[in-house]
Amino acid sequence: IGQALRYQGTVQSTQDALRAWADDPAAPAPHGATLVAERQLSGRGRRGRVWSSSGGTLVFSVLLQSAPDGHPLTLPELGLMPLTAGVALHEAASAGQGGACGLKWPNDLLTPDGRKLAGILLEADLRGEEARRAVLGIGVNVSEAPEGAAHLNEFRPGLTRAAFLKAALDALDRWLAQPREAVLDAWKAASLTLGRDVQVQTARGLLSGRAEDLDAQGNLLLRARDGDLHTISAGDVQLVGR
Ligand code: BTN
Repeated sequence: IGQALRYQGTVQSTQDALRAWADDPAAPAPHGATLVAERQLSGRGRRGRVWSSSGGTLVFSVLLQSAPDGHPLTLPELGLMPLTAGVALHEAASAGQGGACGLKWPNDLLTPDGRKLAGILLEADLRGEEARRAVLGIGVNVSEAPEGAAHLNEFRPGLTRAAFLKAALDALDRWLAQPREAVLDAWKAASLTLGRDVQVQTARGLLSGRAEDLDAQGNLLLRARDGDLHTISAGDVQLVGR
């Protein structure tokens, strides 16, 4: 991961710039290729949101693709990738200061008081239930953050975008090679969501209850007040109360 590294000045979105590199017939980007931009004009987030960035934000995208003769990426593998990336970012960001930040399901990096430090967006080129490639996009507030969000320099003064990028790519490389159980255990250990009362906006509507656990696929298990257990594969979590 990150062996092939390209820096660009201003791009619309690193997701699209990396796809263009991957589709370059002369020298297509290999698996793990990483594209970092100085500035992004129309960064996108999960669920159609906008990701705005400034000079204090690190924005990059990583190409994840199956070998031409290998098996394609399956839905369970793709489902775990954002959680794996969350674990890697948490490790790189906390650097031994365990309680400085944590993960909100599925993959937001937050301060313990709930302000966002980083976001992750996985876009897979799905063909039915599998994909030959996926683009993992990561945006991190390093020295500056939008209103209401947080940045890493609040608890890691002096940390630069370049140093964090290196740590994040290194962690991503290691965590992508770990078995599913190890990733899920690390995710749970870094979780700010589990054990909390939450509201989750899903395609089927708003669900509320206690975030109980993750299942083996990384889905969120939500215990509703009526005792029903819901398995949530995609949604937007709000932490309720403390
Ligand atoms: C989210 O929290 O909703 C995910 C935000 C992901 C933003 C990153 S910035 C780099 C990459 N390029 C994009 O256009 N989006 C992702």
